Amino acid sequence: MVDVETFVPEAIEEIGEEIGDANAVIALSGGVDSSVAAALAYEAIGERLTPVYVDTGLMRKGETDQIRETFDYMESLRIVDAKDRFLGELEGVTDPEEKRHVIGEQFIREFEREARDADADYLVQGTIYPDRIESEGGIKSHHNVGGLPEVVDFDGIVEPVRDLYKDEVREVARHLGLDELVAERMPFPGPGLAVRVIGEVTEEKLDVAREACHVVEEELEKYEPWQALAAVIGKATGVKGDNRVHGWVVSVRSVDSRDGMTARAQEIDWETLQRIQSRITGENETVARVVYDVTHKPPATIEYE
Ligand code: XMP
Repeated sequence: MVDVETFVPEAIEEIGEEIGDANAVIALSGGVDSSVAAALAYEAIGERLTPVYVDTGLMRKGETDQIRETFDYMESLRIVDAKDRFLGELEGVTDPEEKRHVIGEQFIREFEREARDADADYLVQGTIYPDRIESEGGIKSHHNVGGLPEVVDFDGIVEPVRDLYKDEVREVARHLGLDELVAERMPFPGPGLAVRVIGEVTEEKLDVAREACHVVEEELEKYEPWQALAAVIGKATGVKGDNRVHGWVVSVRSVDSRDGMTARAQEIDWETLQRIQSRITGENETVARVVYDVTHKPPATIEYE
């Protein structure tokens, strides 16, 4: 486990040395990794850091507001409303890797514009240890690893939490006094809710997934899952009132893990599962069914795409 008392001042000093008198940017994702990297970098270089939060429209419920509140103290914070551009680019795209690719590309375009505007020479990233392992192993194209520096001509990349595991990053977050919600919030994939809707990304599916994820996070908090989520996995027949409907199928998933590389599906009590089902179908007319995913990783992944 990381010794935060020594890690924090050392990380700040190192960032300061690497960046010198130059400017830097960081892409905030709403997650704990980039939040911690941003907080450390801000301690090191103050307003010469421009934190950029791109609202892709694929974020969790309330995430944008939470970012605004948490980083309110950084005057250089930029919040970019890019929802329409992301959804436009994703129209008609159904292949999972293609979806990731489109999101990654659009993200780069948005970020590149802001970085140029901020006159930034350095890129700060919240890459953690498991991100590097998975990317190097070629398991999947994590869009927050690699990519960016090839497009934007930075003098250097600074990755203050690159050797830490997720639980260590959380410990640093608590030590830095970051908002409890940020420090404790479950990991969320870079491509956001796009990997929690199978097939084409539409606003309707995103709304179902966003609300369902919110219900699941609330109801399963007591199980302290490493990650709990809901995904829109297809359509099936159901009955609403007197009518047969063809509604969305929402799959609920809750896993224990240390680093996301392997995971175990959690055993959830029936009453809680039923409450989740009733809230998700009750809050959304278009949901016909809720199922619980009992598969571990491997053979399944944690996300659905
Ligand atoms: P999978 O679905 O591969 O996910 O079992 C393992 C962990 O990684 C997260 N994840 C991502 N994180 N960019 C990220 O930053 C991504 O593209 C991405 N895809 C998956 C996932 O939420 C889980 O915690």
